Amino acid sequence: MKTLLPHFLLFFLLFVATMGVSPEYTRPHPRPLIFRPHNRSESEPQQVHISVAGKDNMRVSWITSDKKVKSVVEYGKTPGKYEASATGESTSYKYFFYSSGEIHHVRIGPLEPSTMYYYRCGGYGPEFSFRTPPSAFPIEFAVTGDLGQTEWTASTLSHVGARDYDLLLLPGDLSYADTNQPLWDSFGRLVEPYASTRPWMVTEGNHEIETFPIIYPHGFRAYNARWLMPHQESGSTSNLYYSFDVAGAHIIMLGSYTDFDSNSNQYKWLRGDLARVDRRRTPWILVTIHAPWYNSNLAHKGEGESMRKAMEKILYEARVDVVFAGHVHAYERFTRVYDNKADECGPVHVTIGDGGNREGLAMLFENPSPWISVYREASFGHGRLRIVNSTHAHWSWHRNNETDAHMSDEVWLESLSSSTPCNQINISSTSPNDEL
Ligand SMILES: *[C@@H]1O[C@H](CO)[C@@H](O)[C@H](O)[C@H]1NC(C)=O
Ligand SMILES: *[C@@H]1O[C@H](CO)[C@@H](O)[C@H](O)[C@H]1NC(C)=O
Ligand SMILES: *[C@@H]1O[C@H](CO)[C@@H](O)[C@H](O)[C@H]1NC(C)=O
Ligand SMILES: *[C@@H]1O[C@H](CO)[C@@H](O)[C@H](O)[C@H]1NC(C)=O
Ligand SMILES: [Fe+2]
Repeated sequence: MKTLLPHFLLFFLLFVATMGVSPEYTRPHPRPLIFRPHNRSESEPQQVHISVAGKDNMRVSWITSDKKVKSVVEYGKTPGKYEASATGESTSYKYFFYSSGEIHHVRIGPLEPSTMYYYRCGGYGPEFSFRTPPSAFPIEFAVTGDLGQTEWTASTLSHVGARDYDLLLLPGDLSYADTNQPLWDSFGRLVEPYASTRPWMVTEGNHEIETFPIIYPHGFRAYNARWLMPHQESGSTSNLYYSFDVAGAHIIMLGSYTDFDSNSNQYKWLRGDLARVDRRRTPWILVTIHAPWYNSNLAHKGEGESMRKAMEKILYEARVDVVFAGHVHAYERFTRVYDNKADECGPVHVTIGDGGNREGLAMLFENPSPWISVYREASFGHGRLRIVNSTHAHWSWHRNNETDAHMSDEVWLESLSSSTPCNQINISSTSPNDEL
């Protein structure tokens, strides 16, 4: 019996492995890393990206090797003609023997919605352009997590860029630099063609932590310096969680790798943030986290459980529509859930950690599939949420298939703010007002 046990285990694992894989589709393998070298002049901007920064404002972020370049952005609605300019600030950081370039952050605005702007950073180099998000529906979000910087990442990004969208949501795990700091710079260059033209709103994953005992105990040095998000604009004291409004959606980017228990700053901030949501103005509430609260993949099982226990109730009572997570390198969509049970007033949970990083796919799903899990597949790809009006949104998942993206899952969602059985609860009465 003793000698048979390992064989039995092996068989069992193979059985589980094959059950998670649809037979007609050959799983892709990880692909090589892409390293994008610095190939502009010292004072020219590199790694340009933009993010929503409060009502009608955008933050422009970029890096220069030349530390003396001014943190100024010139911009306007006609190419080459900059009728406005704004000055911001810059920072830099060290990580052991690595010194970053000068990291500039400049807030520009007020900007008009759905408008092309042309801009130049620090007075040097190429002109960039972006389009501001709309002020009303429809609005389309591209969603992709655990991106990394491999040839699969490039494939995902090309599919993201091939069809128009307004704003990208990234639920954590950006560069996979994992303390090798030049990889943060390479990632910034790889995503620049996308992140300089549409706002990229990100939250942190475990690969952003980069703590080192005694020397860097708090971590997030590169992430916080490079990917400054509108936390001050949303009353948060930490770049690890924040919220913003765009068109008729309120979006909450939560932090899976900072305190979240009921005494934590994040929890108090979240309660206050939810209490301030006006569903007539923003009928949709979307939340992103990194470690999923619902997950039937064998990878990272249970890692989101303590955060779920701490925060699920207040998201449920606020009638959050969708929760996006990353971390697991696969796609999975659940039905509306609360407290591990199907619940018509709970959010739809989606795991979208399949951006294409060097670690490859999480192939093994538990069997049988829990029946709250509607669709699951271990393939690289990205998602799109198109909110068409105050009541309806279309979610779709697009698997990377070489040069094409293949839409493999889709569903129409109805906002909980318009669903009669769910909008009866007086939301403000369940969330006492907290100070900012
Ligand atoms: C710099 O690198 C990018 C990305 O690899 C490439 O598209 C571009 O042509 C390069 N520019 C120069 C001047 O070599
Ligand atoms: C919202 O969009 C859905 C789907 O296109 C449509 O059926 C519905 O009538 C629209 N509602 C309003 C109020 O326009
Ligand atoms: C991938 O693309 C090829 C060629 O267009 C097509 O024949 C095939 O069905 C696609 N496969 C999947 C899984 O999307
Ligand atoms: C909701 O509850 C709050 C606090 O109890 C109360 O002030 C408010 O009037 C209620 N709103 C509605 C629409 O019932
Ligand atoms: Fe992760």
